Amino acid sequence: MPDLLSVEIKRDFPMLAKTMHGKPLVYLDTAATAQKPFSVIEAVSNFYQNSYGTVHRAVYELALHASEQYQSVRELIRVFINAKKTEEIIFTRGTTESINLIAYSFGKAFIKPGDEIIISAMEHHANIVPWQIACEDRGALLKIIPMNEKGELLLDEYRKLLNPRTRLIAITHLSNSVGTINPIKEIIQLAHQNGSFVLVDGAQSAPHLPIDVQDLDVDFFVFSGHKIMGPTGVGVLYGKAELLSQMPPYQGGGDMIRSVTFEKTTYNTLPLKFEAGTPMIAEVIGLGAAITYLQQIGLHKIDVHEQLLLKAATEQLQQIKGLKIYGMAEQKGALISFTVEGTHALDIGSMLDLKGVAVRTGHHCAEPVMQYFNVSAMVRASFAFYNTIEDVDRFIDALKKIVTTLRK
Ligand SMILES: Cc1ncc(COP(=O)(O)O)c(C=O)c1O
Repeated sequence: MPDLLSVEIKRDFPMLAKTMHGKPLVYLDTAATAQKPFSVIEAVSNFYQNSYGTVHRAVYELALHASEQYQSVRELIRVFINAKKTEEIIFTRGTTESINLIAYSFGKAFIKPGDEIIISAMEHHANIVPWQIACEDRGALLKIIPMNEKGELLLDEYRKLLNPRTRLIAITHLSNSVGTINPIKEIIQLAHQNGSFVLVDGAQSAPHLPIDVQDLDVDFFVFSGHKIMGPTGVGVLYGKAELLSQMPPYQGGGDMIRSVTFEKTTYNTLPLKFEAGTPMIAEVIGLGAAITYLQQIGLHKIDVHEQLLLKAATEQLQQIKGLKIYGMAEQKGALISFTVEGTHALDIGSMLDLKGVAVRTGHHCAEPVMQYFNVSAMVRASFAFYNTIEDVDRFIDALKKIVTTLRK
């Protein structure tokens, strides 16, 4: 089978040239965190070596230049997700912080006792726990959209959950545990018809699918830098300006204020109202390099290549006796969770590692999904455009040998 994206892409990623336990590394844990291309590493290193300075706070050349670079990434991200205004892009430390910020600030401004928040059965803990905290805080109720065995949400059940008390639906775009790509456009339309707002957790979708927040008409969209080939410690919160401007700050400190006296503080305008303290300047600059890199390849091309890998891996995995795949939705991203009868996921993970293959094992930060399928752990292989068909073959070959050994 031809590789749409050539092996040359792999050369952009220094980590992918490494060996593990004497074997070439086959990295299949991009859903946890993505490897970084040279351009990102160089952007961060270059900033620290040649132009490091603070942002927003000084008039000297270095600080002005750093501020310019920092702000230009905001505009880059606006274009990347097609937001209407640059001030709708807030930098956070990652998806987790973005969701916590919304749960807290939206919660304070919009959630009243007796209100309801809807999440789904396939959420990452990062899109469950902040809502449990917000509901407890605001006296609201948490409702769950159920899913079926294929890992597809039951949209009829979703329709039934919507009612005048529904304030917000917080839903993952692409499930990190079962791979489902949820029909978020329809989910958003139904929510809006009901007068409710929607937060989409794009941690797994932003690195793999083109995103257009205006076309989706989504109220909040969040993602993490490190999953999109950028540095750790930086993430994005997109929110419609009219909502963000009605929400109180999440944290207090420098940058988020207009003026401070002991009697009264007034807050800065968007986006700085939500960016207290010295931000992660180098990380934002690295994120900018990552987005530029992805744009150069093209998200459509990435999607096509990854679907090819998904199909090839799924077909081969299905031939292994006793192997069960969790999540066979019609619309699925390039990740596969599975167990093999008579073996433990952790054993498979450790033995794959010895053969140079890095996969995730455990509950994937989605314990309710494990409870639904009645397993304690799964193995997850997740792919990116830097993976090749050869990676898939190496993984399957190693897995077959391991399963034979474990079953002896
Ligand atoms: C769907 C989903 N949401 C949220 C998160 C949390 O992202 P982060 O740990 O980068 O904040 C993850 C991370 O795995 C995820 O897969």
